[in-house]
Amino acid sequence: MRPVELQIEDVAFGGKGVGRTEGKVVFVPYTIAGERVATRITREKKQFAEAELAAVLEESPERTTPKCPYFGRCGGCSYQHMKYKHQLQVKQKQVENALRRIGRLNTPVQTIVSSPQEYGYRNRITVHADGGRVGYYRRDVHELIDVEHCPIAAPEVNQALTELRSRAPRDGHYTLRARSGPRVFAQTNDGAAEALAQIVERLLPTGHHLLVDAYCGSGFFTKRLAARFERVVGIEWDRLAVATAEQNAGANETYIAGDADLEVNRALAGVDLGTTSAIVDPPATGLSAGTRNALLEHPVHTLVYVSCNPATLARDLAVLQAQFTLLSATPLDMFPQTAEIECVAHLCSKAD
Ligand SMILES: C[S@@+](CC[C@H](N)C(=O)[O-])C[C@H]1O[C@@H](n2cnc3c(N)ncnc32)[C@H](O)[C@@H]1O
Repeated sequence: MRPVELQIEDVAFGGKGVGRTEGKVVFVPYTIAGERVATRITREKKQFAEAELAAVLEESPERTTPKCPYFGRCGGCSYQHMKYKHQLQVKQKQVENALRRIGRLNTPVQTIVSSPQEYGYRNRITVHADGGRVGYYRRDVHELIDVEHCPIAAPEVNQALTELRSRAPRDGHYTLRARSGPRVFAQTNDGAAEALAQIVERLLPTGHHLLVDAYCGSGFFTKRLAARFERVVGIEWDRLAVATAEQNAGANETYIAGDADLEVNRALAGVDLGTTSAIVDPPATGLSAGTRNALLEHPVHTLVYVSCNPATLARDLAVLQAQFTLLSATPLDMFPQTAEIECVAHLCSKAD
């Protein structure tokens, strides 16, 4: 492993610091822009190299002490070494860069919305048990770290972890939850999810005929907005999530168990687009081609795109520009201490 000293210039999406040696970009985790660091190159490719941090030679004033004894080994968190305000600045810049470089969009990005809790926010975690150890796998290596306490998890979740560990569980995966509920997608940080829901509510108009909520899960957004629309249609391919949404559905709520790739087009065909809004909240891979095309073919009056990946968001927005104007993009910190970024984009049809 070749030792190299680097000046960290930036922090890339994904959480690694970026330095340069002999004209080549080197990615180093757990570093901060402005720091001078000693590293060891662990992987060398034609275009870039990966290195591990050996020592911080000149420390950034944004550096702080991580709360977790497993930080740097566990792989779940990337930013515990940064003060929280700086984490927010890093994420803000990453969204701006993605929209500008990938999407070629110059729309100003709103100030990132912080999480009400910096630690102790996760309402569920999945841990693994193997050969007497209970914890998380390291990100790059198949090695299970024995974890007694996870500082980003809620106290109830840590209590469940303590109980699980005390009964020496059989090998396997265990999802520990702050409260019981169906095994379907659910927002992980309650405080930040409330802020997210409020942003989405604020961006959607009132008095519209129809809301199509694609990738709706068990109706997190659909249900909050049902009273504002004559009709709401949720589209979700997880049947259990759809069944959960249907359990307490009002008369104007319809849930379709199917692939957004086909169903968005069906839901929008023949409707009055001038009084129709849509929400899309896809997984990190972003919109499928079918969903993007459906939106281009049926440009709804207002479109709110909730994204957990700025790169795929930027790619999709670049395509959607053919029929939509991007009014705003608002990043939100759903996962403090980690490199994940949530972002809400507000678009309106160019036809209006
Ligand atoms: C990021 S989650 C959002 C869920 C929901 N909006 C919420 O806030 O709880 C994405 C959801 O999309 C669903 N999904 C992923 N790909 C899909 C597809 N092609 N068609 C329909 N649903 C899909 C997943 O099952 C998951 O529930």
